[in-house]
Amino acid sequence: MAASQSRIVAIYPGSFDPITNGHLDLIQRGSRLADRLIVAVLENRQKRSLFSVEERVEMLTEVVKPYANVEVGCFHGLLVDYVRERGANFILRGIRAISDYEYELQIAHMNRRLSPGVETVFLMAGEAYSFISSQLVKEVASLGGNVNGLVPPLVEERLKRLMAAHR
Ligand code: PNS
Repeated sequence: MAASQSRIVAIYPGSFDPITNGHLDLIQRGSRLADRLIVAVLENRQKRSLFSVEERVEMLTEVVKPYANVEVGCFHGLLVDYVRERGANFILRGIRAISDYEYELQIAHMNRRLSPGVETVFLMAGEAYSFISSQLVKEVASLGGNVNGLVPPLVEERLKRLMAAHR
């Protein structure tokens, strides 16, 4: 993000169900680009999730503790409204592969149409993380696979506990 007189406040939105090491890599890198980075969990009652919004916010809050300029929030409704509410000027998103591009392009265009002053900035996922998704992590964990190294240790622990309770 270009250096300017104004402060860079970026929102990194997502479902984070749960946060993966890919998300964490993006948070780490995003925190070096923005003055303030707000990781925002979408509260979507229509979408079935493994972890509640409260649990996701709790895990994220723990995991972002090392980054002084990163905070965690949640939102419902339009992302651009939340961006305005928080006084942010950028949306941060990650792209893992070309398959992400089309979807990301659509939402970036839609958000710009809804709020022309807000730019979406994309970071390429680190190559070590380009195959990780929350969806796949949940699938592997639910089938008893090893998710070590794919998610922060705290999330791995939570997944193990949850899966054990469902067995
Ligand atoms: O992690 P995800 O599920 O890919 O994140 C998608 C997210 C949260 C960025 C997107 O669904 C979103 O911004 N939803 C809020 C509703 C909204 O603003 N819709 C209009 C623009 S697409």
